[in-house]
Amino acid sequence: MRIAAIVPAAGRGERLGHPVPKALLQVGGLSLVEHAVAGLMRAGIETVVVAAPADVVDEVRRLVPRATVVTGGAQRSDSVRLSLDAIPADVDAILVHDAARPFGSEDVVRRVVDALENGAAAVIPVVPLADTVKRVDGNGRVVETIDRSTLRAVQTPQGFRRDVLVAAHRTTDVAVTDDAALVEAMGVDVQTVEGDAHAFKVTTAWDFAVAEALWERGNQ
Ligand code: CTP
Ligand code: MG
Repeated sequence: MRIAAIVPAAGRGERLGHPVPKALLQVGGLSLVEHAVAGLMRAGIETVVVAAPADVVDEVRRLVPRATVVTGGAQRSDSVRLSLDAIPADVDAILVHDAARPFGSEDVVRRVVDALENGAAAVIPVVPLADTVKRVDGNGRVVETIDRSTLRAVQTPQGFRRDVLVAAHRTTDVAVTDDAALVEAMGVDVQTVEGDAHAFKVTTAWDFAVAEALWERGNQ
């Protein structure tokens, strides 16, 4: 099975609030997008398409010369859809991996790839939740406590049969934060595999500090 990867890296990082796009910010002297692409390549995924912010496409090309770099879109799902056009014709399955997850992808890639090779149409890595979770209303009043044991936090890389991912991205009008949500909406079964704490997403300044600390300890 030939497997390629898409790395959406075209977000601005608004929750981080830094003027430089988040994927270009560095941990241990390498940008997040370099870490993410290197992790995929170390796991044996050699065909990688990166979606970059329009104003830094050339810079991203210099950072990840072994990847194909395209211009991303307004939403994450637009960036993935635009990247699909650059996937070679003979690719059977596609991993979608956030540039904002610099670490931990190697083991997770292997589990996702194994599931795809065993016939899964869609695979997502998940981790259990540590905190108690409650639903609240618009005034911050608790509506209910949700049974944590049935909930999972979802990571990337997520893996899909190519035809499934392409079909999922024909529906463009849904606001989703991952690709599996589009696949679920089509009624396709999504399989879960074990994620990895190291594959956390860098979203806030706190996450950057955690990533730096892990890097310094050689524990990425
Ligand atoms: N992404 C993308 N195109 C977009 C929006 C997001 O390629 N239009 C990518 C980001 O670059 C990131 C991944 O999707 O690698 C996950 O998104 P997220 O962590 O939310 O990053 P941002 O959207 O950049 O951050 P924020 O939501 O805080 O603005
Ligand atoms: Mg975002």
